[in-house]
Amino acid sequence: MYSARQATHCRALASGKTASQVLKTLNGAASTSQIGFRPICISVQQHTTPSSQRNFSANTSVSRVKEYFPAPNAPGIRKTKAAWPHPFYNDEQMKQVEVAHRETRNFSDRVALFAVRILRWGLDTVSGYKHTKAVALNETDPEEAQRLYGMTEKKYLIRNVFLESVAGVPGMVAGMLRHLHSMRKMKRDNGWIETLLEESYNERMHLLIFLKMYEPGLFMRLMVLGAQGVFFNAMFVSYLISPRTCHRFVGYLEEEAVLTYSKEIEAIEGGRCPGWANMQAPQIAIDYYNMPEGHQSLKDMLYYIRADESKHREVNHTLGNLDQNEDPNPYTSEFTDPEKPHPRKDLQFQRPTGWERKDIV
Ligand SMILES: [Fe+2]
Ligand SMILES: [Fe+2]
Repeated sequence: MYSARQATHCRALASGKTASQVLKTLNGAASTSQIGFRPICISVQQHTTPSSQRNFSANTSVSRVKEYFPAPNAPGIRKTKAAWPHPFYNDEQMKQVEVAHRETRNFSDRVALFAVRILRWGLDTVSGYKHTKAVALNETDPEEAQRLYGMTEKKYLIRNVFLESVAGVPGMVAGMLRHLHSMRKMKRDNGWIETLLEESYNERMHLLIFLKMYEPGLFMRLMVLGAQGVFFNAMFVSYLISPRTCHRFVGYLEEEAVLTYSKEIEAIEGGRCPGWANMQAPQIAIDYYNMPEGHQSLKDMLYYIRADESKHREVNHTLGNLDQNEDPNPYTSEFTDPEKPHPRKDLQFQRPTGWERKDIV
């Protein structure tokens, strides 16, 4: 069942355009059968309200964008809140997020970086991710620039869905293994589990947000299924062998995620994603991030998501620097001197390459 609020949101996807015009722009002329994806928004359905609910006339019908996962049919429940409320980020902090790389310092780091490069290559191949050098053309001929640039809104969405479906795995595996370890060894975990589970929750929220914009077809579902099966088991075994290498691996993976979202933001700002230029963020993102009035565009949303990825990058590089069995998780700890810069859940005191152990413990 679709609410009037959802219909209003859909119509407001872009200023001055109807939903169908916006969606046509987004999906472009590309074949919808490519790479097994069906654009969710292309289906603008005509729903006739049941007679018992009609407000105006018996013939009233409303154009609504199809919802990939509409709200559950539970009239007795008003709202289901996020299990982990999202921390507050301000505009300035989100703009300060930058692409960064932590240099490898030992064999374990090199193994982690090598594994990320392999994964990145596979991800690029599967999701058709590539950039060509057409930025210089941008100002004189935006359409030609976009064609040469290689990436479109649709291709970015394919990449984001695939990336996020993989990104939610490591935190859950690590949290689960530390949970079992704590019970098995009858020892405290010192606060790591919560942060790891929260990270995987945050990644799943990213996935749900992008699924509001694009619906995967059978091919992509199979790819996600296969990737999850392989990746979950690989992480499971690897975390048992070397949790430190796994955290470093995730740190490097998140460096790539920050890069990808930075490129998407640049593409919007450079006019290479015209379909996204005036688009509003999905309601699920507005609710989750508590996006303020006037800052609810798709571009604003990408700033939030990129900031989340930068936090995962920092958290995992930091955890990779700590004693895996003894050190408390600094992100859930109170510090003796709260004025001194220290790891935090929000974006105050950003440290892209992670905090060193000597600066925390
Ligand atoms: Fe993510
Ligand atoms: Fe992430």
